[in-house]
Amino acid sequence: MGSASCVHSLLLALISLSILKVSVGDPRTSLVAQFCNDTLAASGAILADNFVPAMDNLSSLVNANGYGTDITGLDPNGVYALAQCYGDLNPIDCKLCFSEIRSQLPKCYPKTGGTLFLDGCFGRYENFSFFNEIYSQDDKTVCVFTQNSSKPTVFAQVVKEVVGNVSLQAQNNKGFAIGSQMMSNLSVYVLSQCWENLDKSLCSSCLDSAASAILSCSPATEGRAVYAGCFIRYSTELFWNVNNTSSSSSGKNKTIWIVVGSLLGVVLLIVIGILIAKRRGLFSKKKSPSLTELYGPEIAAAISQSNLNFKYEDLRKATNNFSLSKKLGQGSYGTVYKGTLSDGKEVAVKQLFLNTKQWIDQFFNEVDLVNQVRHKNLVKLLGCSLDGSESLLVYEYYENRSLDQFIFDESPEKLLDWPQRLDIIQGIAEGLSYLHEESATRIIHRDIKASNILLDDKLKAKITDFGLARSFAQDQTHLTTGIAGTLGYLAPEYIVHGHLTEKADVYSFGIVVLEIVTGKRCSSPVGSHADHSLLAKVWNHYKANALAEIIDRKIYDKSVNDDIIQVIFIGLQCTQADPQSRPTMTRVVEMLRNSRSYEEVVLTDPPFLDVCPMEDLEQGMSTPQS
Ligand SMILES: *[C@@H]1O[C@H](CO)[C@@H](O)[C@H](O)[C@H]1NC(C)=O
Ligand SMILES: *[C@@H]1O[C@H](CO)[C@@H](O)[C@H](O)[C@H]1NC(C)=O
Ligand SMILES: *[C@@H]1O[C@H](CO)[C@@H](O)[C@H](O)[C@H]1NC(C)=O
Ligand SMILES: *[C@@H]1O[C@H](CO)[C@@H](O)[C@H](O)[C@H]1NC(C)=O
Ligand SMILES: *[C@@H]1O[C@H](CO)[C@@H](O)[C@H](O)[C@H]1NC(C)=O
Ligand SMILES: *[C@@H]1O[C@H](CO)[C@@H](O)[C@H](O)[C@H]1NC(C)=O
Ligand SMILES: *[C@@H]1O[C@H](CO)[C@@H](O)[C@H](O)[C@H]1NC(C)=O
Ligand SMILES: *[C@@H]1O[C@H](CO)[C@@H](O)[C@H](O)[C@H]1NC(C)=O
Repeated sequence: MGSASCVHSLLLALISLSILKVSVGDPRTSLVAQFCNDTLAASGAILADNFVPAMDNLSSLVNANGYGTDITGLDPNGVYALAQCYGDLNPIDCKLCFSEIRSQLPKCYPKTGGTLFLDGCFGRYENFSFFNEIYSQDDKTVCVFTQNSSKPTVFAQVVKEVVGNVSLQAQNNKGFAIGSQMMSNLSVYVLSQCWENLDKSLCSSCLDSAASAILSCSPATEGRAVYAGCFIRYSTELFWNVNNTSSSSSGKNKTIWIVVGSLLGVVLLIVIGILIAKRRGLFSKKKSPSLTELYGPEIAAAISQSNLNFKYEDLRKATNNFSLSKKLGQGSYGTVYKGTLSDGKEVAVKQLFLNTKQWIDQFFNEVDLVNQVRHKNLVKLLGCSLDGSESLLVYEYYENRSLDQFIFDESPEKLLDWPQRLDIIQGIAEGLSYLHEESATRIIHRDIKASNILLDDKLKAKITDFGLARSFAQDQTHLTTGIAGTLGYLAPEYIVHGHLTEKADVYSFGIVVLEIVTGKRCSSPVGSHADHSLLAKVWNHYKANALAEIIDRKIYDKSVNDDIIQVIFIGLQCTQADPQSRPTMTRVVEMLRNSRSYEEVVLTDPPFLDVCPMEDLEQGMSTPQS
């Protein structure tokens, strides 16, 4: 059993927590292509109002059928939306892939349309009906030339034949087919997919065009054709989920560690936006109503009296009109710019993607919540702007940016030594412990990951991105609206059931700890499959009593070896499959402060120990794949 099957086992174990028995394959959420329509919406606010319900509608359709189309609202601001999971995704992977679509599509807002091709699914919205379109100006091929075939002529021949055959097969098989061929020592794997709403002749035309276009990728060993009505991919490596039920035995299971969309984040943005829209009188039938008329006296007072209120114009100036040169990064719900206020203070300004009028109450709860949260290890929200054409959040700015840029970076100037790393781990733990147990409102962060940990000039950890945070009191322990967060860091019970407790943060924290100590990502960057699962690797080393081997060589030092292993051990405790077995963050802080003074806890429920037998069981039920 290789590491691939161990990941499989891990996944099965995670899933086995639930009564449902579902297997998770590879949702393939890596980005292939994204296009935004150039046209600006007649009314961004109304478009956004329609966008959210359209995505909700689409979500139920996709969950039920693997694809769907929806029309919400009236021209010219109606939203026509289509989404399609590729036929080899099982229902859970499809859900995960669609979540990504749902969180990325709003990046085109306030343009009237957006198109997103991921490796496992497709999504598009426009303000007109495009459901029967099979061609567009954006159709293209995406070839990966970094590794070319050494036998270009034979290779081209094989690609041509397999692509042709599989596309033909798809036309006769409700738009989906996979197939592969070994010829002259070459394996070529092909997946063809039409959107299922297309009739057979449209599907055929689309696939024929895409199939001939993709041939231009040869001798690249990997090619994709993205067309308005279909998608074809070929590769010399097996990339699809072998089938529905035993998908991850195919060995392509690394992508379980991938970003998943965040409905709540989008919701938050939306709220802010509508405030703006309303203030700017975009609802033109009303004659620019006062804040009080719009929101009632309490909320109006809250806005105008709030010390969180920034002027849009000031922030626009501070960021050089949101110039690219000021861009710090791209978060899950907005672009972040560096700004310099007129008094010289540096800030980080997050420009949110999407605005709408729903969820005003939630928004104010959110702002209120974040405003109450003050801790040395939490990024401070300085305010927001509600009076401009985009909604903005203003945060403290930190010179050093995020933790992931340090621990995964090979350059010596970014090297963090062990005491620095330990201090960062300690800081994150304290920040989380505060959120969970000490702040006035108990908060689950939901999206703890290395890129959400900023480092200040003294390399102190600051947890950021509270967009996903939710007041505990409101939400109790369940979250039904959808999965938010980043997949590699998500606790198993949260992925499968949406059960959200502080222990989900504890799990994500555990993953971050393991990343810090090993210097390896829990997820491989998009497009590569360098490693399968960090968690699996560390647990294997733990079982083999060889934890020292997994320590980042750059910090490895005999004198601190034991301390480091203690910390890995804490990380493992945090990533146990059973939430009850994970320590609280307060306990973690204690353990870190006093690393030698606590009793050795037996790791009761490590994610994949009881799992290997389960895989055998699984394999017994279906034909083994490899
Ligand atoms: C963009 O939207 C406009 C209408 O808003 C439409 O006419 C045009 O075809 C769209 N472009 C693409 C590439 O879909
Ligand atoms: C889809 O949207 C329409 C409004 O456009 C709504 O009436 C309908 O209930 C929605 N369906 C689902 C399944 O959400
Ligand atoms: C889409 O939006 C554009 C720009 O606002 C508008 O000109 C066009 O008429 C809209 N399309 C439809 C079908 O309403
Ligand atoms: C692969 O082939 C393409 C097109 O023939 C060429 O542009 C590219 O440089 C080649 N790449 C390598 C790594 O040889
Ligand atoms: C493609 O189909 C043809 C005819 O159906 C068959 O002879 C050929 O072997 C197939 N080639 C591949 C690579 O599958
Ligand atoms: C297949 O590869 C092996 C070893 O790389 C080589 O000996 C053999 O000749 C190859 N066969 C063909 C048909 O290319
Ligand atoms: C999975 O694939 C194997 C072999 O390809 C096949 O025997 C089995 O029936 C498949 N299971 C499903 C549910 O498609
Ligand atoms: C995959 O499995 C689901 C049920 O788990 C089923 O509804 C669907 O038709 C299957 N798809 C394929 C392509 O076998």
